[in-house]
Amino acid sequence: MGDYFSMRWINNRVRMLDQRLLPHKVEYRNCDTCSDVAYAIREMIIRGAPAIGVAAGFGLALTALHSQVTQIHEFISELKASADELRRSRPTAVNLYESIQRIESIVLTADNMTLDQIKSMVIEEAHKIAEEDVRTNLQMAQNGQQFIPDKANIIHHCNTGALATTGIGTALGVIRMAHENGKKLHVYVDETRPRLQGARLTSWELKQLGIPHTVIVDGASGYMMSKMRIDACFVGCDRIAANGDVANKIGTYNLALAAWAHEVPFYSVGPTTSIDFNIAYGNDIPIEERSPNEITHIGQMQITPDEVEVANPAFDITPSKYITAIITDKGVATEPYDQSIIQLMNG
Ligand code: MRU
Repeated sequence: MGDYFSMRWINNRVRMLDQRLLPHKVEYRNCDTCSDVAYAIREMIIRGAPAIGVAAGFGLALTALHSQVTQIHEFISELKASADELRRSRPTAVNLYESIQRIESIVLTADNMTLDQIKSMVIEEAHKIAEEDVRTNLQMAQNGQQFIPDKANIIHHCNTGALATTGIGTALGVIRMAHENGKKLHVYVDETRPRLQGARLTSWELKQLGIPHTVIVDGASGYMMSKMRIDACFVGCDRIAANGDVANKIGTYNLALAAWAHEVPFYSVGPTTSIDFNIAYGNDIPIEERSPNEITHIGQMQITPDEVEVANPAFDITPSKYITAIITDKGVATEPYDQSIIQLMNG
């Protein structure tokens, strides 16, 4: 595989591959402050739920690293301002909030520690979040192997590979491991309008990995299922409600409905950090509404009439009844999801 990474902590800076430029340019940018990281998340220089979670941790680590204050209460205010800025960057992927909360709570519960010790703990915790991401990616990939037959035709939506995480990926990690285990696969890659994460990023990653694939427009997946054998759909997730409903990239719900109608198994793959027990039903998950420009323009070119009304929800909710299984790092959840998710978490 090509020697690239989505994001790394290098020499006290956060180095990120600018995903807006792929596949034409492989260009890295450095983030020196938490505001740089928040900007990168907002502008989708870095994207994908697990990667956003790791980035948020690194953002707070940069605040700790550069903090000049001398009192613990001043540091807590500084960290809170950084956390608030990160929280405003993107609303749907729960991993972002999870990482922030994890770091805030170790700071708030630190007892008998010096300011320097607290700062070091923040930086260490951010690195732990990144290491866990790499590990959980591998666990998800292993747990998903049972669902990929040899000679499988698979439909994949959005980008869930190494670019969306700091490891091998979620749904694409399962596919990658199956390929590395010698299974013959063909992946049909939804282009994923409007940001084209499938056409630009997933096809680029699959090319690096040598996995045979074909890019299709999002609207073609039902037709493909009606015309040829599709063995499974694999998608990622940005947030899982306690009842198993899943928020993922816009178009996932349509794909799930087509899969349901054609009796094609539909798998959602995500780390247990994507489960939000504060959200009972999928419809309570906040859905990001992005700029109309993403729809009215392709690159610099306007493709709609002037001043046309546009709706641009970046994610949708797939009700759990359309999901064959949710593959996580701790195991596989199936119907009834409200119970099986709790069982997973309890080991
Ligand atoms: O808007 P994005 O590109 O951040 O959305 C990414 C997705 O929806 C992915 O499918 C996802 O985060 C799931 S797991 C990597």
